[in-house]
Amino acid sequence: MKFLKKGFLFLAPMAGFTNSVCRSLFREYGADGSVTEFVHSRAVLSGAGRVFEKMRIADSERPVGVQLFGDDPAEMADAGKIVEERISPDFIDVNFGCPAPNAVSAGAGAALLRNPEKMAAIILKMSSLIKIPVTAKLRLGWSSSEIIVPEACKLLQDSGVQMITLHGRTKTQGYTGDADWNMIENCAKSLDIPLIGNGSVEKLSASELRDSACAGFMVGRAALGNPWIFCRIKKSMKGEAFIEPSPRERAALALKYAETLAGANFSGISSADLTHAKGQIMRFLRDGAGFKKLRRDMRDVLTIEELKELLCEYV
Ligand SMILES: Cc1cc2nc3c(=O)[nH]c(=O)nc-3n(C[C@H](O)[C@H](O)[C@H](O)COP(=O)(O)O)c2cc1C
Repeated sequence: MKFLKKGFLFLAPMAGFTNSVCRSLFREYGADGSVTEFVHSRAVLSGAGRVFEKMRIADSERPVGVQLFGDDPAEMADAGKIVEERISPDFIDVNFGCPAPNAVSAGAGAALLRNPEKMAAIILKMSSLIKIPVTAKLRLGWSSSEIIVPEACKLLQDSGVQMITLHGRTKTQGYTGDADWNMIENCAKSLDIPLIGNGSVEKLSASELRDSACAGFMVGRAALGNPWIFCRIKKSMKGEAFIEPSPRERAALALKYAETLAGANFSGISSADLTHAKGQIMRFLRDGAGFKKLRRDMRDVLTIEELKELLCEYV
């Protein structure tokens, strides 16, 4: 993981939110790298639907990893090889933490927290076939009575994983409650490979960030609508003050997002893309004063051009 430097900040993969446009923009605003939303290995192997479009990455996002999930070592390795050749990400990340029922019932994502040997077999097979680094993202365990770290992390390290992102919650916690940073720190100290800490990073104090044994951090929900969070965390690590963005800066970011989305022109801006864009833009404007009318007017917008025009009035 040549690109990693101490205090590296990743934008977390968040399905439905962190598309390529979003990742590029967040990179520009201070995230050091990102990971794509997860894709099932079988979807890659079958080339189903818009799977390769979903995994598309822009050079402006780099370093970026493509995230896969699945339960079969050979399929995961074959899918990873295809991704390496067709998408050329900087690394391939394996999801061992998704608590969504469809992932778990398929024996993938967080289901594998109950089977560290299978996790290791997946990493071993993938690492033997894929040239770029294979990384993993996992939780502390299935539940508070089934904690698998640091042992599972060591097993993955011995199987060839080159970086681990540890979300300091269990599967049963989902996204609620506090992340256990003591366990994250203990794990980071016990490994030779870099560990990225994840779980409400925005709540860590400047000294906790600075003194951490983690090679870097991954920020999830606190970044939604708030790409300035990366700058805030970096300033906090340096003991510098951070000035919150003005409403005008927020509107400028929203406009930029709309323009980039129009420029990227995925598959034409479909009404689903437009609804998605409006949702993201609402989030960028969330904390800015004076956007009540804009938010109201945005409901009547039917095209990306109209959206851009509307936002221009505020910049
Ligand atoms: C809406 C949503 C979608 C997510 N999608 C993914 C995903 O595709 N892959 C993944 O590894 N984690 C996913 N996560 C988990 C986040 O990457 C992250 O681990 C989690 O939100 C904890 O970080 P936070 O406390 O900073 O939000 C998702 C989380 C949310 C809220």
